[in-house]
Amino acid sequence: MSKERAQPVDRSDDSCQSWAAVDAYLCKLLAQHDEALDAALESSAAGGLPAIQVPPNFGKLLQLLAASIGAKRILEIGALGGYSTIWLARGLSTNGRLITLEINLRNASLAQRNIERAGLSSIVELRRGRAADLLPRLAEENSGPFDLTFIDADKVSCLEYYEWAVRLSRPGSLIVVDNVVRNGAVIEADSTDEDVQGVRAVLMRMGSDPRVTATAIQTVGSKGYDGWALARVL
Ligand code: DHB
Ligand code: MG
Repeated sequence: MSKERAQPVDRSDDSCQSWAAVDAYLCKLLAQHDEALDAALESSAAGGLPAIQVPPNFGKLLQLLAASIGAKRILEIGALGGYSTIWLARGLSTNGRLITLEINLRNASLAQRNIERAGLSSIVELRRGRAADLLPRLAEENSGPFDLTFIDADKVSCLEYYEWAVRLSRPGSLIVVDNVVRNGAVIEADSTDEDVQGVRAVLMRMGSDPRVTATAIQTVGSKGYDGWALARVL
């Protein structure tokens, strides 16, 4: 007799729990924390920040993307508590530098402490203010081009941030946009949710923008059902 094949488990009722459990499994194997990452999460939670930072395996993906392109300059739009900042900065090549933008002053001071605790303050510059104000300044200062930009701030202005990211890029630069699926609501053309309309606008632009080639991926995991988009500047 042939051995019975394992049956797929019906996860229809507890799919979210399953996603979280699988994320925990994957992260334990592939995206382990050190003390600095633990401290970043713990201080963010203690400081009352919403737990909307990237999951560890996505942080690791950002680090791998940065390392894969030999990133020397990274731009992050939306630092929150500095958790993704740490992952990204750890993907920088030798002498690389990262600039991260954060509008919320409490988030920014937490992020600064977390960056310091990770031993990254000499290569990470945290700028406080509205990204819509800080991005033109980066352009004026000729701070670019950035090899990788991670857009993870408010979704309403996502298209504006993307336009600046392209302007601050060079051919071959990567732009990652977080949270573009929003529990599936991204396909609701008539949605009255401004965040949904924000990500719809950026996806539409990325898909028709002759300056880039792009894709987007749905994700499930500890943070529920969402997704991210990736553009490569031509
Ligand atoms: C939201 C923002 C994020 O950056 C995220 O990762 C998840 C959710 C939000 O504003 O809803
Ligand atoms: Mg996000």
